[in-house]
Amino acid sequence: MNMIKTTLLGAVLALTAPAVFAAGEATHHIENIDFSFDGPFGTYDVNQLQRGLQVYTEICSACHGLRYVPLRTLEAESGPALPEEQVIEYSKRYDVYDAELDDFREGTPVDHFPGSALENAPDLSLMAKKRAAFHGPYGLGINQLLKGTGGPEYIAALLAEGYTGEEKEQAGVILYENTVMPGGWIAMAPPLYDEAVEYEDGHANSIEAMAEDVSAFLMWTAEPKLGARKQAGFAGVIFLTLLSVLLYLTNKRLWARVKYKA
Ligand code: HEC
Repeated sequence: MNMIKTTLLGAVLALTAPAVFAAGEATHHIENIDFSFDGPFGTYDVNQLQRGLQVYTEICSACHGLRYVPLRTLEAESGPALPEEQVIEYSKRYDVYDAELDDFREGTPVDHFPGSALENAPDLSLMAKKRAAFHGPYGLGINQLLKGTGGPEYIAALLAEGYTGEEKEQAGVILYENTVMPGGWIAMAPPLYDEAVEYEDGHANSIEAMAEDVSAFLMWTAEPKLGARKQAGFAGVIFLTLLSVLLYLTNKRLWARVKYKA
């Protein structure tokens, strides 16, 4: 009897232990943000992408790179939709290494954004898809369909409400407490402060507003063809529905004589 009890207790502990540890890690609950690109018909908001580009350029690019993103894509109509001359002008702010010249030269729209300037700052090109805030429920993908995977929400929360203001030094590095970062501490000083950038369209420039804008922009860098993919998916669903109806009717007709003979 005792033996069974111990075995049962052991089994229960083994089953619950991981859940207990996991609960200890998730200190911050990330809220959904209603981005324009969420949902089956969502598209990017051009103005928001332009504001996000501004935040990235004026603040984040001091440390982070976007090396998988070609500068010319800033012209994309489903993206920031900058006029051609503006993209040419914008590209000049980056110095790129040209293997043919074996030297650095002014950037042009055919070049990519540079990589990270700071060694330990990760490249942000794909970050919005590497991080996820929502899973499930039970892996059914319902959340993902309606709200996305939460990558931009993760970044927005990391930049804004994640910081607690606490700091500590560890092996000569200053770490900042951030409840969104797995582990609770991040080596990135809070990059945003109120009115850190001045938007031309007069849009709100609180920390939260700028964090949302730059997160939307980073979603675009990670998934520039989102709109086209959603359209293709929708066309696919319509096509399959029509095909099913046609098949059903054909099937009925083919077998009609056999079925009603007797
Ligand atoms: C002064 C340099 C600096 C600036 C400016 C900066 N970052 Fe960072 N960032 C870092 C460093 C360093 C890390 C790595 C932190 C770590 O791993 O603890 C990091 C990490 C990140 C991460 C990854 C967090 C994770 O889950 O691993 C994201 C996302 C990020 N930064 C976004 C931004 C955005 C967006 C901006 C502009 C608003 C920005 N950063 C500005 C230095 C910077």
